[in-house]
Amino acid sequence: METVLIKNLGDHVGQQVTIQGWLYNRRSSGKIQFLIVRDGSGLVQGVMVKKEVAPELYEAAQTLTQESALKLTGLVRAEERALGGFEMQVTGVEVIAIAEEYPITHKEHGVDFLAERRHLWIRTPRQVAILRIRSEIEHALREFFYQHDFVLADAPIITPAACEGTTNLFELDYHGDKGYLSQSGQLYNEATALALGRIYCFGPTFRAEKSKTRRHLLEFWMIEAEMAYFDVDDNMKLQEEMVCFVIQRVLHKCANELRTLGRDVAKLEAVKLPFPRISYTEAVEILKQAGEEFVWGDDFGAPHETIISNHFNAPVFVHRYPTAIKAFYMKPDPQDPTVVLGADLLAPEGYGEIIGGGQRIDDLNLLKQRIAEHKLPEDAFEWYLDLRRYGSVPHSGFGLGLERTVAWLCGLDHIRETIPFPRMLHKMYP
Ligand code: 4AD
Ligand code: MG
Repeated sequence: METVLIKNLGDHVGQQVTIQGWLYNRRSSGKIQFLIVRDGSGLVQGVMVKKEVAPELYEAAQTLTQESALKLTGLVRAEERALGGFEMQVTGVEVIAIAEEYPITHKEHGVDFLAERRHLWIRTPRQVAILRIRSEIEHALREFFYQHDFVLADAPIITPAACEGTTNLFELDYHGDKGYLSQSGQLYNEATALALGRIYCFGPTFRAEKSKTRRHLLEFWMIEAEMAYFDVDDNMKLQEEMVCFVIQRVLHKCANELRTLGRDVAKLEAVKLPFPRISYTEAVEILKQAGEEFVWGDDFGAPHETIISNHFNAPVFVHRYPTAIKAFYMKPDPQDPTVVLGADLLAPEGYGEIIGGGQRIDDLNLLKQRIAEHKLPEDAFEWYLDLRRYGSVPHSGFGLGLERTVAWLCGLDHIRETIPFPRMLHKMYP
């Protein structure tokens, strides 16, 4: 008997197959039992008619509790009204493990209750759909870079210095020396880009965020690219192509998952190239027209980003932010040094900034000056300064926050559902 995944049952109509999974739900009318089984790839209903199977088999099935592990054998039938369009006429059940009383029932549960049981919560169809989409997004990103001749160059997780400011660093004891969990692989990416041309890294990044929001995690995954000889415009062009590639892939590969989530896919289908580009100064005008009291020079908060992005039906690049609110490594605009050649990508529908990036300072003296202005320890950055001493070139890069992208594409209210085990303020269990 062939063992198959539930998601592939459509390839086996009219055949006897086995599926391996867990009991999601059971309904019974005395003469007939419906066993709804999940295997991580989907759900299927197994139909067992009492008079068609051996009495022991029918009774064994009746002992199955929610989340009991089982193997189900039966004939695959197309059934329009069934979940996923197929059902199984059960001819065999192998009980692997009877589950104890399962805490997450089919009733509504509060989010705190579920978060405490995240290790079980991830079994529910909605969470499975999100995690499958997350996986597809990661694959698509990697494939995009592979197709564009990028080299995967992993950046270190333990670092001797800050990349994104010192206020949210996680410090650790590195055998007597101070070390930090990486906030971003960027500085190392700049080194590998000068070695390899076009590179990306994809790994966990850490920020000791002190506020609770629906967009911030303390540990999140970032895919970061860095390209030698790219300016700020080349950088934005690559990003928009990447984002469109990922959306197309998710629409194509994850239609069932998007349906499970009730995602309005028309909003994703509407995302087309090129994305609008506005300067920070133009964004401030949009805020003022919307009646916000916003002062040029301040950083955008989440509500501001929402107002700006609601102005467009597509993701929008905001470039040329005030120098004072951006990181030390951003290259000033030669036309107007009060702003930098950085650009963030704001997602539509109020999902906020999903990408931060820009062109880097390539001049040694200016970079030294910025390191001093930001009160960063110059000795920890000597190696980084070397990149400007030996063959410095214009170069640019960016980092896309995976979880915010998952939240947007899945249409989720909160970032906590976008990663198997979220790390949030005062929340580390499980
Ligand atoms: O804008 P950020 O801070 O940019 C950097 O770290 C650059 N060094 C990247 C680069 O140019 N290589 O962070 C990039 C993205 C944000 O746009 C956001 O999507 C995500 O990372 N991000 C977070 N996601 C979840 N939780 C947090 N606390 C996040 N902080 C940033
Ligand atoms: Mg940013």
